[in-house]
Amino acid sequence: MELAVLDATLLYPPTPRKVNAMTIPRDGLAVLGPALAFALLMSDYVSNSQAQIKPEAFHRTIDGSQVDVYMLKNANGLEATITNYGGIVVSLMVPDKNGKPGDVVLGYDTLNDYIGNTPYFGCLVGRYGNRIAKGRFTIDGVVYQLAQNNLGNALHGGLKGFDKVVWQAEKVDSSDGPALKLTYTSKDGEEDYPGTLRCTVTYTLTNKNELKIEYSAETDKPTFVNLTHHSYFNLKDGGASDILGHELVIKASRFTPVDKGLIPTGELRSVAGTPFDFNKPTAIGVRLASEDEQMQFGTGYDHNWVLDRQGKDLELVASVYEPTSGRFMEVLTTEPGLQFYCGNFLNGTNKGKGGTVYQHRTGLCLETQHFPDSPNHPDFPSTELKPGEKYTQTTVYRFSAK
Ligand code: BGC
Repeated sequence: MELAVLDATLLYPPTPRKVNAMTIPRDGLAVLGPALAFALLMSDYVSNSQAQIKPEAFHRTIDGSQVDVYMLKNANGLEATITNYGGIVVSLMVPDKNGKPGDVVLGYDTLNDYIGNTPYFGCLVGRYGNRIAKGRFTIDGVVYQLAQNNLGNALHGGLKGFDKVVWQAEKVDSSDGPALKLTYTSKDGEEDYPGTLRCTVTYTLTNKNELKIEYSAETDKPTFVNLTHHSYFNLKDGGASDILGHELVIKASRFTPVDKGLIPTGELRSVAGTPFDFNKPTAIGVRLASEDEQMQFGTGYDHNWVLDRQGKDLELVASVYEPTSGRFMEVLTTEPGLQFYCGNFLNGTNKGKGGTVYQHRTGLCLETQHFPDSPNHPDFPSTELKPGEKYTQTTVYRFSAK
């Protein structure tokens, strides 16, 4: 009997599940033989054993709201496990060139680990992804001071950003594939940002083997918004070894150089002749030892690229190829910028899924976004959102193998 989860399935709490077209409520298991009942109960775990995610390790109430993990499985067998705590993608199972599935994102086996200490593994980032200089900005003549949580600057939405809150979760069926809709209302003054911000993020694991992320937000007062997603990808082995051999393309002629605190200077600098030119596929490790001052400031790549876009629609902007597994990931977005961070601050102190210790540069982030510190750079594309306007952004991570 096929016991695997058949479609997008909430792993926990137990719900009636389809098994070979029969629906068996878990309460009804008592009438079955004990061995069969046990097998059925365990079937969720078996089907996800490669991802090693146990639903009960995420089932908990936080701030009065229920946290769980949800599994999306598309028509081709790709699986994404996502928790509504921080909207974290806990695992993402993608086949290699031989069709063997493997987890391509770094993360933890338990919710407690995420709560304890995470370098933003797999989460949603907001209200403002990336840095704001001195944690300060002005709107309509009023100065707002945010928490300075990163070398005197504000990083990733503050002390308790969108990565640390519980989102309301709803599974939605879409013609594209199984989806999880997450909503969160950030109150006026939360983390010292003005305006109540109503946010929706929908993750869809499409039948074209894409993890599609659609964001929207509305405010009741002028505010700044820059939402993004922070998966650390390792297409080779999910973080057991480094990402230096991954071949990266970023379609960008310019990037935003930074100061020592990783705040953009305001210049849009040409990548030509620098280690920042990824217009042709280049292994990430090849130029990391460069003496370019920007590489010193970032302690490697930790910069925003100014994407060469044709318009404002969803567009292919970057790709990563890992030669040993053959996995290939393309990034499409509606955003003007891309922060490429190559895991410079990973240092072996995070023990992740299945006991894997994440050493230096074992994951890479491709964070589609507006440019860092835009509130203080009127020349950059604006991140201000006013009442009556709708913030939207869409990003797609598309997987294949060759
Ligand atoms: C930033 C890095 C930071 C990392 C984890 C990235 O988005 O660019 O500087 O260390 O997030 O916090």
